[in-house]
Amino acid sequence: MSGFFKSSIGRKIAMALSAFFLMFFLLQHFAINILSVFSPDLFNEVSHFMGTNPLVQFALQPILIFGVVFHFVMGFILELKNKKAKGVSYAKDNGAANSTWMSRNMIWSGVAILAFVILHFIDFWFPEINTKFIQGDWSGLHNGEFRYYHELQEKFLSPVRVVAYVIAFVFLALHLLHGFTSAFQSMGSTAGRKKTLQTIGKIYSIVVPLGFIFIAIYHHLNHNH
Ligand code: HEM
Repeated sequence: MSGFFKSSIGRKIAMALSAFFLMFFLLQHFAINILSVFSPDLFNEVSHFMGTNPLVQFALQPILIFGVVFHFVMGFILELKNKKAKGVSYAKDNGAANSTWMSRNMIWSGVAILAFVILHFIDFWFPEINTKFIQGDWSGLHNGEFRYYHELQEKFLSPVRVVAYVIAFVFLALHLLHGFTSAFQSMGSTAGRKKTLQTIGKIYSIVVPLGFIFIAIYHHLNHNH
């Protein structure tokens, strides 16, 4: 197993597998969040289910956190190894001549997303942990109503936060635009299917971040206080 992670292809496959997992998470995260625009009640119901279901809380959530940390750590290791290899590489990176801006800057779009995830955890995840595990309140209620939708609206009151989120989602789009097809390539996707994959990748990488941008701006403009 350690031999697998020591080989360059092993690391790439591990990176791709964790990327698939995170892209799947992102899609379901988006599917749940977009409910907040169409039906606050349904959003509350689903949030309560996700926040209190033991399988989600104690199995899926730890796997997700592991996936996030793994992807970042592996990303840094790959970047460092690539930098080192460049000095002696025969397949030289000639900047714009043979690669895109996005592919050369995965580490920087990744760092921007990492900064966002830290802010995002401070915004949503830590208060959840506090309510459930420190205060021991698993009811999901505030003043007799489900609190999730209200908490979401409150977070997007601040224009500074909305701008920070929107910038992060643009970096997310850039990261995905290269990452999606790159992950398939690492898994050995064949040339025949490449065009379709590239199209699906482009759609996913633009629609999902744009959708997140829409959610943030929507709640900024539509809060009922
Ligand atoms: C408008 C956009 C978004 C909104 C409104 C939103 C909302 C939320 C909320 C309410 C939670 C708390 C879940 C809990 O109770 O634990 C959460 C958790 C999380 N979000 Fe987001 N999110 C957004 C975008 C994103 C994006 C773009 C990413 C990834 C790049 C992301 C990654 C995560 C992660 C990793 C968690 C922790 C999951 C967990 O609960 O274990 N979110 N988000």
